[in-house]
Amino acid sequence: MANVAVVGTQWGDEGKGKVVDLLTARSDMVVRFQGGNNAGHTLVVDGKQFIFHIIPSGILYEDKKCLIGNGLVVDPEVLLEEIDDLKEAGISVGPERLSLSEKAHIIMPYHKAVDLARETAKGKAKLGTTGRGIGPCYEDKAARTGVRAVDLLDPELLEEKVRDNLKEKNFLLERFFGAEPLEVGAIVDSYLAMGEKLAPFITDVSLELDRAVTAGKQILFEGAQGIHLDLDHGTYPFVTSSNPAAGAACAGAGIGPKQLHHVVGIVKAYTTRVGAGPFVTELTDETGVYIQARGKEFGATTGRRRRCGWLDLVVVRDSVRLSGLDSLAITKLDVLTGLERLKVCVGYEIQGEKVEQRPASLKRMAACVPIYKEMPGWQEDISAARDLSQLPVAARAYVRTIEEVTGVPVSIVSVGAGREDTIVIKYPGM
Ligand code: GDP
Ligand code: IMO
Ligand code: MG
Repeated sequence: MANVAVVGTQWGDEGKGKVVDLLTARSDMVVRFQGGNNAGHTLVVDGKQFIFHIIPSGILYEDKKCLIGNGLVVDPEVLLEEIDDLKEAGISVGPERLSLSEKAHIIMPYHKAVDLARETAKGKAKLGTTGRGIGPCYEDKAARTGVRAVDLLDPELLEEKVRDNLKEKNFLLERFFGAEPLEVGAIVDSYLAMGEKLAPFITDVSLELDRAVTAGKQILFEGAQGIHLDLDHGTYPFVTSSNPAAGAACAGAGIGPKQLHHVVGIVKAYTTRVGAGPFVTELTDETGVYIQARGKEFGATTGRRRRCGWLDLVVVRDSVRLSGLDSLAITKLDVLTGLERLKVCVGYEIQGEKVEQRPASLKRMAACVPIYKEMPGWQEDISAARDLSQLPVAARAYVRTIEEVTGVPVSIVSVGAGREDTIVIKYPGM
């Protein structure tokens, strides 16, 4: 297998974790390159469920190396919790199995406090963030005031940075938001203690990847969120604060673009979104309720109910362009079983004008009316299918429509949450 990137083509929660777990079997290393513990990637292996927020989804394979790239924002408490949870499940994770980039930015208590205070202050106009401090941490990175993983190993520098940051953050928290101020000493003590525990994992991830590439190892890049949550290309401002698009894999892992050979876009067979923001094909009727219930569409990070709607291929087609997708993995096709008729959105109409791309203006987006192609559904249980030929004709036609409208071949079809509930048409990058 070549070096492959797995990215979400919609608004996140497409099933990236499941596909990464599946492809890890044919890779040597799995690296995350952006986002933080706003991500929730669920794997079901031998009937057991694992949810990862920071650690790459390849960690269940004992002989594979997992790396957390410089492009992430890392909450050390959450990372240590994940390592502990794995230990409890009988999976020991030491530095030979996991690396944390010394350049990754660290989520501090004031980032979480500002995230929550800002959302509360916005009231009804809130973005619906995960409240994990993701945006404020990336803000500090861009403002050049952030704390990096390597700083956790330098007590003087850490204290100086926390002290300087708190001057501004406490002013904002107390005087603007009317929230509680935070204390330098308590933060420095707890972060130094966590730094000590993480010290064996903190390393130069870019160098490690470079050595692996030279040795002919296969690298899998695990995206988080989805391309329409991308800070540059998503439904701004209803986006996250990083770039889930595949181009970010290079900057966020510290490798050159020529090392990325195949990009697989994960497409949920319908559309979901958590948090606020435009959603042209949203279903607020009983079909939406049916999909939400059958798909168990609750957020893996915050437990919030995910909004559901028909598959929006305008969104997916944009993602093909924005990430240069080589193949698609369709997930949760089984969830659509039982619906009489299915619809996929193939274009939008704005006041009589047909558009093929998602408009940047939110006002224009709000005026978009979906143009649907209707298809018959299927009633048979498809969860045991392991080959395309075992799918009902209508399900095969649905997959073919996705290929035709996007112009990209489908490499994988997922028909259940388990690792084995998968139809592999062609391994991506092979
Ligand atoms: P991610 O954030 O993209 O990794 O996706 P999440 O893990 O947040 O959400 C996907 C959910 O769907 C998880 O609970 C998966 O276990 C589940 N899942 C993945 N693929 C399938 C599938 O083909 N069928 C069904 N029924 N569930 C799936
Ligand atoms: P995975 O990797 C779905 C959404 C939040 C909110 C917006 C901004 O599991 O697909 P943030 O906390 O990032 O500032 O919130 O982005 N969001 C996600 N939605 N899946 C995710 O990750 C998400 N990560 C962030 O709900 O609308
Ligand atoms: Mg998720």
